[in-house]
Amino acid sequence: MMRPAAIVKTKEGSSPVFVGEGLLEALPRLMDIRCGGSRCVLVTDARLEPGLGRRVRRILGRGGRRADLFVLPVGERAKSPAALQKLYGFLLRSRVERGTPLVALGGGTVGDAAGFAAATFYRGIPLVQVPTTLLAQVDSAIGGKTAVNHPLAKNAVGAFHQPVFAAADPSVLRTLSERDFHSGLGEVVKYGLALDAGFARLLRRDWALLTARDAAALARAVGRCARIKARIVSADERDLSGTRELLNFGHTVGHSLEIATRYRLRHGEAVALGMGAAVLLSQMRGIFDPQDVDAASWLLDQVCPPWPRGAGLRELEGPIGLDKKVRGSKNVFILLRGLGRPVRVSDVSVSELRLAIDGCRLISR
Ligand SMILES: NC(=O)c1ccc[n+]([C@@H]2O[C@H](COP(=O)([O-])OP(=O)(O)OC[C@H]3O[C@@H](n4cnc5c(N)ncnc54)[C@H](O)[C@@H]3O)[C@@H](O)[C@H]2O)c1
Ligand SMILES: [Zn+2]
Repeated sequence: MMRPAAIVKTKEGSSPVFVGEGLLEALPRLMDIRCGGSRCVLVTDARLEPGLGRRVRRILGRGGRRADLFVLPVGERAKSPAALQKLYGFLLRSRVERGTPLVALGGGTVGDAAGFAAATFYRGIPLVQVPTTLLAQVDSAIGGKTAVNHPLAKNAVGAFHQPVFAAADPSVLRTLSERDFHSGLGEVVKYGLALDAGFARLLRRDWALLTARDAAALARAVGRCARIKARIVSADERDLSGTRELLNFGHTVGHSLEIATRYRLRHGEAVALGMGAAVLLSQMRGIFDPQDVDAASWLLDQVCPPWPRGAGLRELEGPIGLDKKVRGSKNVFILLRGLGRPVRVSDVSVSELRLAIDGCRLISR
């Protein structure tokens, strides 16, 4: 039997992550082993439905499993209360049972919305994650966080629900738009910079292969990210001890940039800029190992878009204050002592932050 690339281990059990070229064809076998039953609900988005959606439905059918198809709107609208309500209606009308698995085929928006539906429908039905964007393969499909948006805030309503398994087939990434692919690379770089120096060096070596979407290089990188994420989530599934928080490297400023630009930046682009600010903060504090500056700057240069106009401290401080990492009145930042050496700090002052943001704006013009 195929070996998982990574396993998320929690109190409730284990959630394997399979990574490999051609894995879609193995879905029926994986489902037979992990889910049982003879039917499932396949959830995807309107952009994927005509291509990948139909293909996966056929594959499941060949494996003897009926797949009822539900199509979500593209993008964040998949995570709206209205879309969720329709999905619940579909699950009721198609008489889904407690054991019927829901298969989320798509990017992070499909995974989050379908995942939240699976977490809540009948208080929880099995979930299979089949991520099709780079961001979803390395991040959102792993770790069990699911959420939908409230009109007042993104990801405001959510639940933890580990998939019975996740299956990432890097060959599907070839059709991803250049911008979405690049945004995913932002999260890939995050794992190297913040959590695995060896991976950071490997990324630099393999960069040309990765951006050419070389199958083997992609499978290696996705597998490595999955292992890092699985290790962190297994240590702190519910984000309670501070360990899982390390995955938020670059996200404090990143998230505020998404809000300040009204989501004109892709998530990975905003995170890349946020990582730049965090590295600069670390350097200003004199804690960042000078030997790692060159490697970190090189990787950041590959993934950072230009800093958006009009996104200065004044525009960002509101959203930063609302950040989920706020404990009491203090902001928690993840800074670095060097590649793969994160530190949590909660004493970043407004003036320090202003210097870092202004510094980034100067550099990236
Ligand atoms: N749950 C988590 O832990 C977690 C972590 C990070 C991000 N997220 C969430 O993930 C979402 C972003 O995910 P995303 O970046 O994958 O965006 P997305 O789901 O909107 O996908 C981006 C675009 O790519 C298209 N697409 C998907 N797969 C494709 C393929 N193989 N070929 C061609 N096009 C394809 C989609 O139709 C969509 O238009 C956000 O809502 C964010 O909040 C969740
Ligand atoms: Zn992220």
